[in-house]
Amino acid sequence: MIGGRAGGRDTKMLNAIAVMNTKGGVGKSTLVLALAETLSVFHGKNVLVIDGDAQSSVSSMLMTVANLHKLQSQGLTMVDFLVSSVLSNQPTDWTRFVVRNVSDVDDARSVYLLPSDMQLTLFEREVSKENLHARMRQVIGAVLTDARRVFDIILIDCPPGLSVLTESWLREADFHISPTKADYVSICGLEVFRRFKALNPEMGFARNMGVIINMKDAQSAADEDYHAWLRNDPDNHCFSQAVPRLNSLQDAARFQSMERSYSAKYPGTVGHAIKALAAEVVERMALAHVTAAEPQPIVPQPEHEPQPHPPHNPMSEFAIEHAGLPAGRSDEKPAM
Ligand SMILES: Nc1ncnc2c1ncn2[C@@H]1O[C@H](COP(=O)(O)OP(=O)(O)OP(=O)(O)O)[C@@H](O)[C@H]1O
Ligand SMILES: [Mg+2]
Repeated sequence: MIGGRAGGRDTKMLNAIAVMNTKGGVGKSTLVLALAETLSVFHGKNVLVIDGDAQSSVSSMLMTVANLHKLQSQGLTMVDFLVSSVLSNQPTDWTRFVVRNVSDVDDARSVYLLPSDMQLTLFEREVSKENLHARMRQVIGAVLTDARRVFDIILIDCPPGLSVLTESWLREADFHISPTKADYVSICGLEVFRRFKALNPEMGFARNMGVIINMKDAQSAADEDYHAWLRNDPDNHCFSQAVPRLNSLQDAARFQSMERSYSAKYPGTVGHAIKALAAEVVERMALAHVTAAEPQPIVPQPEHEPQPHPPHNPMSEFAIEHAGLPAGRSDEKPAM
């Protein structure tokens, strides 16, 4: 069972963020990875990454393929949790499926992962066939209610498109962040998403924390035009920091068995951009708490360069410590 939270939080935390654009390939998983590691290293946050995508992209960015396959074959992924709790209607402790100590960045000691599996697609098919949407949403809501108390930030990596599971995350999360490329098709993805959100407001939906311009080519006038166009629409709440298109960020997706430093993984310009972006996320979350009683747009603040910050006592008073969580960092067999 889930226990209380170190630090005794008694109000609802607004810290569950779904990263979503209906368009594929805009950098959702890459930014979830980079933000999770940056928030751990420079802000000392305990970050839970929820992989909501059957492709398991972010799972494979955070641990070795061998360890991921092991968890998948042993029935220890989020999909197994969902099958048990939603399809079989069995009370199931979701914390058993959290993998600790993921990430290949040596200082990123407080990143946790609920890994995915390609069986997620079959699970969703069953949910639709058996009309179990309401139960699924209830389960997702309960996971986030627990997780909000335990983790400082929850990042949900959504697949492209709008699956029934993605809809549940979006309705139960506090915020969504939408990465987009500065091009016409990716922006159309944002528009599809916006229309979907407007369809059933009574069902609840995450608030827009902001749009992130990703893979921006500094030399491209077209990229600058699309960026300006997005920035000028106040509904987008664009993050002031755009992320440039750089090979180092593409390389960051490949998990390395040998740990590396943050600056080796995110060198120079890319590190600067991701740190500024993470600082904006933290600021916008803080601002949302201040304005929670009276929701209003989350205003971007000036960027600053944070310094490394040691993670604080992760999970100290939480039953998750006793759940025998597997470690994702090494090639060793995860200890179950
Ligand atoms: N800023 C960047 N610079 C260079 N390459 C990037 C950048 N951001 C993402 N990429 C690359 O773009 C590709 C797509 O990124 P990613 O898989 O994160 O997108 P996605 O939106 O999660 O895709 P999907 O919709 O399939 O889940 C990957 O090869 C990734 O390495
Ligand atoms: Mg992805």
